[in-house]
Amino acid sequence: MRVSEAVNSRRSMRTFKPDPVPREKIEWIIETAARAASNGNLQPWKLYVTEGLARERLSNAILKALDENDLGPGAEYDVYPKEFTPVYDARRKLVGKQLYTILGVPRGDTAGMQKQFRRNFLFFDAPVGMILCVERRMGGGQWIDCGIFLDQLMLLAREKGLHTCPQAAFSRVQHIVRRELKIPDDQVVICGLALGYAEPDEVPNNLITERAPLADFTTWFSE
Ligand SMILES: Cc1cc2nc3c(=O)[nH]c(=O)nc-3n(C[C@H](O)[C@H](O)[C@H](O)COP(=O)(O)O)c2cc1C
Repeated sequence: MRVSEAVNSRRSMRTFKPDPVPREKIEWIIETAARAASNGNLQPWKLYVTEGLARERLSNAILKALDENDLGPGAEYDVYPKEFTPVYDARRKLVGKQLYTILGVPRGDTAGMQKQFRRNFLFFDAPVGMILCVERRMGGGQWIDCGIFLDQLMLLAREKGLHTCPQAAFSRVQHIVRRELKIPDDQVVICGLALGYAEPDEVPNNLITERAPLADFTTWFSE
């Protein structure tokens, strides 16, 4: 598979088949992803991998907490900017609208939207659920490194015929994730990552999100 094929065929999948992923494939993806560049070769990423009963236990604990309105302190970093300027606001709203439209959830259907939000915590039924963390003492530079590592996981998954969905939703319930996976207090939960086999033509996996044209975010200097 060409790198561009992996890049172009990666998209966030939000429904997975139950088929298990062999441990060797998961290990290969993680080990190869750890070839990621990192400033000073710090390799600051911390990864928690759940499968089988452990994956189910994590999902059940989070959904139970939500049912009991145990929302905890929430995410420990700014998942989104504190204020949205119109361009970013429009992008976020567009993708939300597109997703809920293909899911058949009409505007204002809070229960429908909540149901989809909760599906995050089942890792959208993917058999493998990962949680990415970084030590609290690390700076923005190391968060970049973790982002590179996350992307390598997603792209290498494609080479093995697998799909993914990165999930900041898990940072919002980090108090439960932390308790269940015994994540030390000196680590911040960045996001989850669903990993498994997915049918790309199935709703809502068939959502192809838009991208701004190159000229919108690139400034050239030639002379
Ligand atoms: C760090 C990160 C966190 C994300 N968190 C969620 C999430 O919690 N739930 C979700 O359904 N999608 C999540 N996404 C997926 C984005 O919505 C998606 O990447 C974006 O709309 C572009 O679509 P694409 O991934 O299909 O290209 C996340 C993506 C990233 C990079």
